[in-house]
Amino acid sequence: MVEAIRSYHARRGRLSDNQRWALNTLAPQWDLALFPDPLDLDVVYGRSAPKILEIGSGLGDTALQLAQENPDRDYIAADVHSKGIARTLLLIAQRDLANLRVLHGDALDLITRRLPAACLSEVLVFFPDPWPKARHNKRRLVRQQFVEALVHVLQPGGTVHLATDDPAYAHVMREVLGRQSALQKIHDGPRVPLRPRTKYERAGERHGRLAIDLMYRLQAPSES
Ligand SMILES: C[S@@+](CC[C@H](N)C(=O)[O-])C[C@H]1O[C@@H](n2cnc3c(N)ncnc32)[C@H](O)[C@@H]1O
Repeated sequence: MVEAIRSYHARRGRLSDNQRWALNTLAPQWDLALFPDPLDLDVVYGRSAPKILEIGSGLGDTALQLAQENPDRDYIAADVHSKGIARTLLLIAQRDLANLRVLHGDALDLITRRLPAACLSEVLVFFPDPWPKARHNKRRLVRQQFVEALVHVLQPGGTVHLATDDPAYAHVMREVLGRQSALQKIHDGPRVPLRPRTKYERAGERHGRLAIDLMYRLQAPSES
């Protein structure tokens, strides 16, 4: 059973007419939240190619850039934030990107309940909400339930790439992911240059908060 503890803030804010149009008109074609189960990603994208999920895609800049730079890979930008998803949809349509879809909703639900086993080659989690207060610890996205679901949806050899500018959250990530013996740490340190820099990261850097990147690889059962 999926825990009903949300890892995100309920954010309000008026949508522009354009954004409302995107959510009404573009979403039926591009939003996996509106697709029937069971989800078969090769059918969704009409081909067999590596599938990459970005959890907490925010304004969509990372997924949009990666999808544009890597036409041979298929991307999902997942966020609960309506404005960010609307912006991502508008840019998908404007740039005519065939290899990017959105998931307007809880990505934890997508990986725990909707995706089949071993369907993703990468999961990206950049600057998840840190929930710094101790009483909010259980709201952090990176917790036991997340790691179990991750191991289920990643293909052997697949990777998870996380970034945070909160050293306490980086510590939690190391602890939670470190408990899973099938995950082998392949990077723990400064930002990886190939990761696009988002508005959120730049704002942190202006206040002296530097990113810590963590990368893990899922070992095949024969390796562990
Ligand atoms: C601090 S923002 C960072 C956004 C983006 N990754 C960036 O670097 O600019 C964190 C984002 O994660 C999203 N988020 C948190 N939990 C989520 C979940 N379970 N499913 C989907 N999105 C989630 C929030 O809505 C928010 O947009």
